[in-house]
Amino acid sequence: MKSALATLIFGTSLLLGACAADPKVEPTLWKRLGGTPVVTAIVDELIDRSIADARTKRSFDGVKIPRVKEKVVEQICFLSGGPCQYTGDPMTEVHKGLKINNAEFDLFVQFLRDALDHAKVGIAEKNELLRLLAPMKRDIVTT
Ligand code: HEM
Repeated sequence: MKSALATLIFGTSLLLGACAADPKVEPTLWKRLGGTPVVTAIVDELIDRSIADARTKRSFDGVKIPRVKEKVVEQICFLSGGPCQYTGDPMTEVHKGLKINNAEFDLFVQFLRDALDHAKVGIAEKNELLRLLAPMKRDIVTT
């Protein structure tokens, strides 16, 4: 009887241990950003604003916008540890010939910051994402 009780207590604690989230394992940035629904909303806002603003719209003339949105979400998912592969073209290829300058790039990043704020993404997550995207500047800005 005593050993049955001990087995029950031991078994229960094992189960509880397995179910409890391990505080040492930090969730991926993708999870902390809010995953697909949140990142899709952020990218929608970012691209819609880039198309609407007179200072950034020229590059997007004649571009298939749903594809751009889809590929940017995929890229963020992949970079932030989410369950996606990036299936778009390399950044240099895509932006080659668009003659994107520093001012346009900085505005695009500002629109992204605003969209992250509107989605109530935390400051740590915001900075982590911006740090992941920052090195792409050299492949995108060509003038
Ligand atoms: C870190 C910043 C940026 C990232 C991560 C990014 C990412 C992407 C991605 C993933 C695509 C789609 C690739 C594909 O179709 O295979 C794309 C396309 C495009 N991006 Fe960017 N982009 C950035 C900055 C910019 C900026 C600053 C502009 C202009 C102001 C811009 C304009 C465009 C345009 C016009 C396309 C469509 C090109 C085409 O389909 O011919 N991007 N970008």
